Amino acid sequence: MEKLVSSWFSNKTLPQSYIFPPEARPGNHVIPRCNTIPVVDLSKALAHDRIVIVQQILKASQEFGFFQVVNHGVPENLVTDTMNVFKEFFELPAEDKAGIYSEDLKRPCRLYTSSSNYDHENVHLWRDNLRHPCHPLEDCIKIWPQKPTRYREIVATYSIEAKKLGLRILELLSEGLGLGSGFFGDKLSESLLLSVNHYPPCPDPSLTLGVSRHCDPNLLTILHQGDVYGLQVFKDGEWIGVEPLHNAFVVNIGHQLQIISNNKLKSAEHRAVTNSRVARTTVAFFINPSDDCVIEPDKSLIDTDESPAYKPFQFKEFLLNYSSLMGNPEKCLEPFELHA
Ligand code: OGA
Ligand code: NI
Repeated sequence: MEKLVSSWFSNKTLPQSYIFPPEARPGNHVIPRCNTIPVVDLSKALAHDRIVIVQQILKASQEFGFFQVVNHGVPENLVTDTMNVFKEFFELPAEDKAGIYSEDLKRPCRLYTSSSNYDHENVHLWRDNLRHPCHPLEDCIKIWPQKPTRYREIVATYSIEAKKLGLRILELLSEGLGLGSGFFGDKLSESLLLSVNHYPPCPDPSLTLGVSRHCDPNLLTILHQGDVYGLQVFKDGEWIGVEPLHNAFVVNIGHQLQIISNNKLKSAEHRAVTNSRVARTTVAFFINPSDDCVIEPDKSLIDTDESPAYKPFQFKEFLLNYSSLMGNPEKCLEPFELHA
């Protein structure tokens, strides 16, 4: 528990163990926070503009691997309640969080700090994290935090809505790619994981990171970044900031969707920077294939002049390799690549 950044950070200078090597530091230069990440109005997907929206999502997933969605159908008050419950969770007295804190990677519901590799990593991340599975809900809910008292009720409703939104986006993507309806249903999107990041105010944001450069290992991520800036995406050789938009979700393509699409869709590298003023709490809803699901490029997405870029593998093999490489985006696809 005493390792949690939130339990010791106040009035301290940044400890040496949180200082990244110069090439990985965010530094002091101003990162453009522009509107280059596409914003998609999902209400239009219900009407005659559906084709336009499908194309917008497809283009964003090919060029950026990232986009934001507005008018997404998740009630605003539910999102507000959910973000408040998570903030309240991190503000609970230590004794209320102690039962959930765990350094055991096998614990499905746990509060921990930095990465899953605290004892072996070179530098620690300036973040605490709470994560737990959300499917099947009736079983999972029993291991979720019981405090704050509204946690289970609100987060259950949120996870249902986030799943609905995720599946809707996957359906639009599968339409855009020319795959059948329901392509991403069942095993490909069966495992749902909620990951709540908490980044306390940091004494020197130029030297450290909340989350270091990575691509998400899953199929698709639905992120709510609250109203505090911190997310950056690597595009064309530079970092660009993702402006928090009111009542929007950030959606990004994970490694598995890049693989299934034979590299037609892109899982973009991203990271989270810290700030010295306020705590930032974000919630990532990860849509994952089930552990034993076999992943490979779909035949219909391999063009006639192409060969498959990846060999078939089980999702759990990917995860094992991903965590041993701590998400290193240059290396984690390598064992699964085929070279023509
Ligand atoms: C993640 C992630 C970014 C953020 O949890 O995988 O990239 O802004 N989070 O918290
Ligand atoms: Ni991520």
